Amino acid sequence: MMKKHNSVSFDISGTEPQANFSDNPAFEQVVSRRLSRRHFLQGSLALAAGSFIGAGLAGCDSGRSAVGAAVKKGLMGFSPVSINRFDTVTVPSGYSARVILPWGTPLLPGAPAYKADGTNSAADQAMQIGSHHDGMHFFPIDVKNGGQSSTEGLLVMNHEYCDPTILHAYGGEAQLPRKAAEVHKEIAAHGVSVAHIQRQPDGNWTLVENSPYQRRITGMTPMALTGPVRGHDKVKTLYSPDGTATRGTLNNCAHGVTPWGTYLTCEENWALLFVNRDTVQPREHRRYSISNENSIMHWDTAAAEDSELARFNASARAESATADFRNEPNTFGWIVEIDPFNPDSVPVKHTAMGRFAHEGVIFAKAEAGKPLVAYSGDDSRFEYIYKFVSAGLYDPATAGPHLLDSGTLYVARFNEDGSGDWLPLDINDASFAAKAQAAGALFSDQADVLLNTRLAADIAGATKMDRPEWGAVHPDSGEVYFTLTNNDRRHSSQLNSANPRASNSSGHIIRWREAQGQRFNWDIFLLSGDVYTYTPQHQFMLTDDNHHASPDGLWFDPNGLLWIQTDMSGSQLSSGPFGNNQMLVADVSSHQIKRFMVGPVGCEVTGVVMTPDCRTMFVNIQHPGEGSGPYSFSSTWPDRGTRRPRSATVVISKDDGGIIGS
Ligand code: FEO
Ligand code: CA
Ligand code: CA
Repeated sequence: MMKKHNSVSFDISGTEPQANFSDNPAFEQVVSRRLSRRHFLQGSLALAAGSFIGAGLAGCDSGRSAVGAAVKKGLMGFSPVSINRFDTVTVPSGYSARVILPWGTPLLPGAPAYKADGTNSAADQAMQIGSHHDGMHFFPIDVKNGGQSSTEGLLVMNHEYCDPTILHAYGGEAQLPRKAAEVHKEIAAHGVSVAHIQRQPDGNWTLVENSPYQRRITGMTPMALTGPVRGHDKVKTLYSPDGTATRGTLNNCAHGVTPWGTYLTCEENWALLFVNRDTVQPREHRRYSISNENSIMHWDTAAAEDSELARFNASARAESATADFRNEPNTFGWIVEIDPFNPDSVPVKHTAMGRFAHEGVIFAKAEAGKPLVAYSGDDSRFEYIYKFVSAGLYDPATAGPHLLDSGTLYVARFNEDGSGDWLPLDINDASFAAKAQAAGALFSDQADVLLNTRLAADIAGATKMDRPEWGAVHPDSGEVYFTLTNNDRRHSSQLNSANPRASNSSGHIIRWREAQGQRFNWDIFLLSGDVYTYTPQHQFMLTDDNHHASPDGLWFDPNGLLWIQTDMSGSQLSSGPFGNNQMLVADVSSHQIKRFMVGPVGCEVTGVVMTPDCRTMFVNIQHPGEGSGPYSFSSTWPDRGTRRPRSATVVISKDDGGIIGS
């Protein structure tokens, strides 16, 4: 038997540690702000808060909206799927679901076959589909010429993390120090896959053999830093003494798609992979919950065997930052751009868009002659929602990565009266500079602000949210929807209108519409929960057809239907009334919501996209069987009868070839 101090088991699920212990905005401040606004608004108070929807989002209920038109086409006509605990994917009658690209699928030309006993090497893994599929986009193969192909394209997906008990042959506890070969395999299981796929006449989708587009990006792939932080002292490392480069992207959750047809992958729980055992951590580490004892995967412990792995120990160990990896974590927490159509391109980390636990990124509709606007949530308890506005104006002819390297980062304050303010995190903004000075937080330059985005947002006075996850922008109205997945630590003394429930274990969906200047108007679209959970703003009550918890993935399809995916935790899955994780679809104009899909046992349902003709949908199933322990997985999906459950993509189509959602 292994000695306890010498072995480690991995607790990798539910890993969004609370890092925000700042006191903004204290409840007293919210109340006083509300009172002052109330005084200011006087007679218009009747339109505040609950009745906001009637004024601010009148277009939501307009019969002229794209959603209204979509419903006329017969969408939302399917019979809802019942909750269940089956170890399979359940879709409505008349639909079929097929599995493609499970973890380990040979991807690159010459990649070795998947071995079901876990004996594939790190080098094998780097040529195969990664694990723990998450955010994803389908780029039609003819994207550069308009992108209308619905039969061939590049399916690009994130691989959020890995489960060593599934990844390796041994299954159970790992030895400390970790073995370098195992660590390298784990690093290779992370990152992004670019999969060139094609629809066959029988309806199956297959990889295009030997396509030059097939690509794996891992936690070791060389990347460039661009934007204000490039070259800053705080990103200089032994690997990149001039602070312009780093290696790899890790814990990529959701994603985004630029108006010029590239893929953005977002670094979420990267902080858990680093350790800094110094007595005093710099704020760039402390505010992001980097451990001063052990990282979650203990990768740094393999450094004695392979010095390349020393980069996961961010303690200051040498005389200068360019002789160790104290700044390595500062090269993570960014949004990373990948051009899937250029397999030789170096991925770029866009530092102007801020550093935090980026869940994903979603663009407002790009308009020629105006700045680009993108939204991103920081998924941790009591963290914030951000907006990036480019300095340059969008021009379809010249649009490209440069637009994401210069601009203003804002953070959201949700006021009690249903209005909201975007607060600039800009060292040159007088209001922000004054608040920073008052807080005693000195920033040397804008790069320093961006490296400490969370601290800057604390100082600005942002509203602490219940774990912001995905965002989605309505294709017609431009309204922005965001999932707030849950927050079991919100105390009754910490409530506000935007986060109205204490011990919020079920989550909710908030939405807003931009107003003049850097203002917006918001309301709560949906309170998630069990049957009879009621959203008062919309007189909407959940039923057997749509009850759910922990909304996470969120996407508007081209018809204006809102797809909602859940990530209920293991305890919620086993004890709650919701069955397995699921995907619902909402008509936001009528507030009709139906359960469309239920995933296999133990999984999270995440990542959704369709072909341009809306007749093929791709959905990711992440970590089936999670939480059941080594060698006793509660799921064998999708392989049946073999021991290891595998994350995979599911292709959903309608048997009559119809539009998905009809
Ligand atoms: Fe990776 Fe916030 O889910
Ligand atoms: Ca997620
Ligand atoms: Ca989640």
